[in-house]
Amino acid sequence: MVELIKMTTPAQRRRALKEAGFNTFLLKSEDVYIDLLTDSGTNAMSDQQWSGMMLGDEAYAGSKNFYHLEKVIQEVYGYKYLVPTHQGRGAENILSQIMIKKGDIVPGNMYFTTTRLHQELAGGTFVDVIIDDAHDSTSEHPFKGDIDLGKVESLIKKHGPKKIPYICVATTVNMAGGQPISLKNLKELRKLTKKHGIKIMLDMTRIAENAYFIQQREKGYEKKSVREIVREICDQTDGATMSGKKDACVNIGGFLALNDWDSFEEARNMVVVYEGLHTYGGMAGRDMEALAIGLLESVHDDHMRARVGQVAYLGNQMMEYGIPIVQPIGGHGIFVDAKRFLPHLTQDQFPAQTLAAEIYLDAGIRTMERGIVSAGRKPNGENYYPKLELVRFTLPRRVYTQAHMDVIAESAARVLDRRDKIKGMKMVYEPKYLRFFQARFEVL
Ligand code: F0G
Repeated sequence: MVELIKMTTPAQRRRALKEAGFNTFLLKSEDVYIDLLTDSGTNAMSDQQWSGMMLGDEAYAGSKNFYHLEKVIQEVYGYKYLVPTHQGRGAENILSQIMIKKGDIVPGNMYFTTTRLHQELAGGTFVDVIIDDAHDSTSEHPFKGDIDLGKVESLIKKHGPKKIPYICVATTVNMAGGQPISLKNLKELRKLTKKHGIKIMLDMTRIAENAYFIQQREKGYEKKSVREIVREICDQTDGATMSGKKDACVNIGGFLALNDWDSFEEARNMVVVYEGLHTYGGMAGRDMEALAIGLLESVHDDHMRARVGQVAYLGNQMMEYGIPIVQPIGGHGIFVDAKRFLPHLTQDQFPAQTLAAEIYLDAGIRTMERGIVSAGRKPNGENYYPKLELVRFTLPRRVYTQAHMDVIAESAARVLDRRDKIKGMKMVYEPKYLRFFQARFEVL
């Protein structure tokens, strides 16, 4: 689908940004020229997917499209049981509630906002077990999503395996800059967790991008297809939560997939409370059809090469302008290091929030803060202080052209040229949960 985008004047952008409390989440879409807020639900569906939308079987129970989706998930990912949900966080809610007890520890390779919140609301404590390199934007480690097995072992020693219901493993770690985990690391983790009877639950949002990086970077996988590697990743795990809005290019949808019947039974019980019947879980029949087709398209090698290649093109342009970005270039966007971009601001002055606002002012490009605002507060009320303070330039799939990439890089370079004049911000409104979505700011 082609859509008109609107150009705005600097005066219009200043007004829009002020009305939005300097938070790019609160801008109106019509005031945005190039929208890099997220790659979630913003992708262009294919001809096949649009045709599938016409084949929606909107029966309340037992829709044909559910069985198609179930078959695709069994064939591509190898999981036995499917619990459909309206999007990824619906699956996270159900998984957290059925698996986590009060006082449990949930290790993971860096936090994700909604994932961690659901773990905490279920009474668990998230512990970051990603390798230290992931917190360093300059490290060129090819698999910054890898897990530090030493950190996992010491958690097991300290708390005992019974306190660890599962380890949450993300494929291409979003908050680290879209960085992949290696199969070598995942297999070692499987060995360790098997010994202790601990499950591995995958956050397989963007798994196809992770598989592509494995094909490109990991020894022994050069000749394997993205689809084969995706399957090998899933085979190391006990289940997965999935946001269909990324890899699968749909506007809405997600699921929980499980191998164990007892957990599935509990999850299927919960889905009817929170999402919808167990054969639609918050999706229309047509959404499930588009999701099934999109999942198959996501594991095509050529598609992944184009997708990750476009991100790399933008990243290389930015590096030529001297813009400090997270290395190596990740799978779903370019993450600009706001601490290095605006070294005169302290983290309490919200450098990434400030930079996202300045990027919007320059040319109407909408990006997202991924720093202290996104990190939020601990259950005891203290702020988390993440090492990474980033602005994410996220690329929707199959939407923008190379010319757009040039406009984006040029705009970021102009902001870099005047960075000394940029002042920080203070937060004037802070919501209780996931504050980055609705918080408001003023310029200092
Ligand atoms: N896990 C990861 C790694 C994600 O990136 C997201 C969503 C979710 C889970 C939750 O899925 O949105 O379908 O409920 N990420 C979006 C983003 C919002 O912009 O990165 P959801």
